[in-house]
Amino acid sequence: MPCRTIPLQKTMARILVAYTTKKGSTAGIAEAVASTLQAAGHTADVFEIAKLVSLQGYDAVVIGGPLYMGRMDGSLVKFVQRHEQDLARVPVAGFVVCLAAAAKDPEGMAWATKALHDALAPLQPVVETVFAGKLDPEKLSWFQRWITKNVKSPVGDFRDWAAITIWARDLPGKMKV
Ligand SMILES: Cc1cc2nc3c(=O)[nH]c(=O)nc-3n(C[C@H](O)[C@H](O)[C@H](O)COP(=O)(O)O)c2cc1C
Repeated sequence: MPCRTIPLQKTMARILVAYTTKKGSTAGIAEAVASTLQAAGHTADVFEIAKLVSLQGYDAVVIGGPLYMGRMDGSLVKFVQRHEQDLARVPVAGFVVCLAAAAKDPEGMAWATKALHDALAPLQPVVETVFAGKLDPEKLSWFQRWITKNVKSPVGDFRDWAAITIWARDLPGKMKV
């Protein structure tokens, strides 16, 4: 009797998308990443880092946050330090949200890339990227408005949903989950 090869069914992964935000635009990107992973059949949970209790049961983790004054949020750095052992056991991907990407400023984007990389160290993410964010002057304090005006920050919502979806769609392959 001829032997028929039965294709192995691909197991779906449980992926955590953990983010920080001050004004909400990174939350929207984290949700879009999770939705794309869910559409591909994976289980994807989205949590603001401050509300995360445990990393147990996740096969991969995506970590993202915005850049403010050239730095990633301290809570993201602390999250990496606190969970370093668990995070070292799974594939990790990272993204930084900023306006340098909206302004297409190569120096600013290189700075953002380095800030993300340093914040995630000593983890070795399988992929790290920079996404353009959003600046809504109405949501800013007087001081923040003054700063962003001074450095001529672009104003508006520059989040590129197509680019975010493409990046998220490629994640499981890159993370090998
Ligand atoms: C006070 C302030 C400082 C910022 N500093 C930077 C910066 O250094 N580099 C940059 O590219 N974008 C900078 N941004 C833009 C933010 O990264 C962008 O608005 C991002 O989408 C905010 O994310 P959130 O809405 O999740 O907080 C700054 C924005 C503000 C209001």
